Amino acid sequence: MIKKRHTHFIIVVLIGFLMASCHQAKSPRTILSFNEDWSFSLADSTLDASNPSYDDADWRVLDVPHDWSIEGEFSEDHPATAGGGALPGGIGWYRKSFQLDVSQKGKQVYVQFDGIYMDSEVWINGTYLGKRPFGYISFEYDLTPYLNFGSKENVLAVKVNNANQPNSRWYSGSGIYRNTRLVITDAIHVTQWGTYVTTPEVTSESATVSLETTVLNPGTQPADAEVYTLIKNQKNQVVANTMSSTKLVAGKNTVAHSVTIKSPELWSIDSPHLYTVVTEIRTGGELTDHYETPMGVRTFTFDQKKGFILNGESVKIKGVCMHHDLGSLGSAINTRALERQLEILRGMGVNAIRTSHNPPAPELLGLCDQMGFLVMDESFDMWSLKKSPYDYAQYWDEWHKRDLEDFIQRDRNHPSIIMWSTGNEILEQWGDQGPIIAKELYDIVKALDATRPITVGMNPPVNMTNAGVTTQFEVNYNSISKSDGIDVIGYNYAHQTYPHHQANFPDKPFIATETTSGLMTRGYYDTQSDTVKRWPIRWDIPFDQGNPGNTVSAYDQVSAPWGSTHEETWQVIKNDPSLSGMFIWTGFDYIGEPTPYTWPSRSSYFGVIDLAGFPKDVYYMYQSEWTDQDVLHVYPHWNWTGRDSVDVWAYYNHADEVELFLDGKSLGTKSKEGEDLHVMWRVAYAPGQLKAVSRKGGQEVLTQVIETTNEASQIALTADRQTITADGKDLSFITVEVQDDQGRTVPVATDLIQFAVAGQGKIVGVDNGDPTSHLSMKGNKMRAMAGKCLVIVQSGKSAGQITLTASGEGLTTSSLVIETK
Ligand code: GAL
Repeated sequence: MIKKRHTHFIIVVLIGFLMASCHQAKSPRTILSFNEDWSFSLADSTLDASNPSYDDADWRVLDVPHDWSIEGEFSEDHPATAGGGALPGGIGWYRKSFQLDVSQKGKQVYVQFDGIYMDSEVWINGTYLGKRPFGYISFEYDLTPYLNFGSKENVLAVKVNNANQPNSRWYSGSGIYRNTRLVITDAIHVTQWGTYVTTPEVTSESATVSLETTVLNPGTQPADAEVYTLIKNQKNQVVANTMSSTKLVAGKNTVAHSVTIKSPELWSIDSPHLYTVVTEIRTGGELTDHYETPMGVRTFTFDQKKGFILNGESVKIKGVCMHHDLGSLGSAINTRALERQLEILRGMGVNAIRTSHNPPAPELLGLCDQMGFLVMDESFDMWSLKKSPYDYAQYWDEWHKRDLEDFIQRDRNHPSIIMWSTGNEILEQWGDQGPIIAKELYDIVKALDATRPITVGMNPPVNMTNAGVTTQFEVNYNSISKSDGIDVIGYNYAHQTYPHHQANFPDKPFIATETTSGLMTRGYYDTQSDTVKRWPIRWDIPFDQGNPGNTVSAYDQVSAPWGSTHEETWQVIKNDPSLSGMFIWTGFDYIGEPTPYTWPSRSSYFGVIDLAGFPKDVYYMYQSEWTDQDVLHVYPHWNWTGRDSVDVWAYYNHADEVELFLDGKSLGTKSKEGEDLHVMWRVAYAPGQLKAVSRKGGQEVLTQVIETTNEASQIALTADRQTITADGKDLSFITVEVQDDQGRTVPVATDLIQFAVAGQGKIVGVDNGDPTSHLSMKGNKMRAMAGKCLVIVQSGKSAGQITLTASGEGLTTSSLVIETK
């Protein structure tokens, strides 16, 4: 026994020593950002641009990620229609020249694209590499056989075809809209997404980590190699390691390892601990690859009776659906913009994200791993039956297997992902093909990852003819919900049926994949707010003929007919432990789908947070329910000249009651009744000061004051971060408020604000969250909506200062300095 321990100890030390020496050696894998200095032309007949000698001197030079649609004008004439954001598509070409040092000869060279929208084709030095129709998928090409070294240039050309629209629900963006990189490796190396990490056994004492590594030997002869696996914790300490000697055949090889982490630190929402798996390969004593895979240790299960269990504890999934655009940045991915979205969502108490309805940018998944968000990772919005004229259905037969496999292989190591979704409201769901395709996709996914359940967002999974009646629902309605193609029943809407889930699906757990679809415009309020309105189901009936502003009241009272108010669905989910949770449609507004309107609206009304990132009032209902912090949120504003009465709502928690005062006179004390999550007063309007006080056991918890303002006279600028990194990517999001002489935001202000920037940065987006605004989101002016707008400033590459100046007619000009370091 003692002897055995010694042997083990010696091996561990030896591996540690070898790995340590590997680390000192220069890593033979070079990962270079390939984002800078592309030449771009938005022209649909640049046929010979794939030829390396093509003269692109007059093309625009830009960096990717790049979305040319967001740079265009909003117009109802664009084929995308308002549903796709009313922005242009078209055909674009990108070209990039680069040189490789002669020392790189003999290396493997790959170009990786995280996403090109859509139908891209790629050439290197005039040789055609291939095409990828699916605009949301990540892929790479092997450039090795076609490269020049030394002073001779290489030219990579990319054609992007987003001309045939509509082809996506919802706004897609156009172009090389995600990150790109060049990966240079030695001959023998780990392939793209070539590691698969699982934790088959986890206890508080230990975690077994299994690793399958795919190693490519591009030669024609077998090669002897040692493959090392080492796991590091967040303090960079090695907590487990192993190695194996192996003969690598020509082509792909799979090397399996299993190691144990003692006393593992678990990944959870509150404490998202990550480890890093380091894989190293040596041949003939030489290090030939070094590859890192972030990972986490956690257990989870969806239980039919107990809901979602993470690390042995019940966790209610408080999720939001997110569409992929980043507001005024379009779909051009930016890590800080994603992080800001997650920070704002975390402030509301959100703990889960659904990537509706497509594979997301990998950076989103990395942030969810780091910040502790659960993820429902979704692959498709349609299968073989199309939802829009030119969508992915036309490529389904040829591409779905490859795309689904690539998607799973890319994403399966993320600890944040707790569920795969193979589809959303698939049209086959009611027909014979539904179960067949669902099962085919199920098998494709399970062959690559059997550790996570599979769902499909179904609308709805049961027969709704009994909606509202407390009898069991007819399950025959949806062919997919009865099939072998899903593990968890995914409900889109139909909250009336949730209490019957146990009876309808005794064998399968529950998730509300998509809920609510409440409708609201930030800062707009109807006079009467105590009736719930479902917007009519007929698509051709405008929501309100007499509403030229295309606004929807921001009280939580209006929803799509298939949805509910925010309170209604949460009330059902909240009290039933068997219901694992929900994903609200949507966290943020997104470009496209301006339901209940069409043009001149061009972005959604569904978000809890508007397109600019400003919370609508219902954000605070969730905050009062989903977070531990003390909340009192009273609304609307108090500038109501011409109105007789105004409904005042309050969301609160940690208190028994709220008392409202107008100019010091009590309007009464209210407490939430029954299942209600808000209180309301109907107040005869008089300008002045509205004050609300929440109390617990007679003790004041919080106070909020809202005052009628004077005329707008100045501009206040507030940056989310005053210092940003001088890396040419980082962003500062600056909230612009139109205020009166006493520094109070004027809630009805719509002033046009002009921006100017000087120093080490530039303006990359402007927005106000108004779905009807047709001002360019890439310009330097924006109108305030409900007193506010947003300007996004991006750093350059030099340290220094950025000065932003904001001016407007009749308003005192304001400026703000951002440091870049
Ligand atoms: C769902 C659909 C979403 C969105 C939503 C709006 O049916 O899955 O993409 O359209 O409705 O309520």
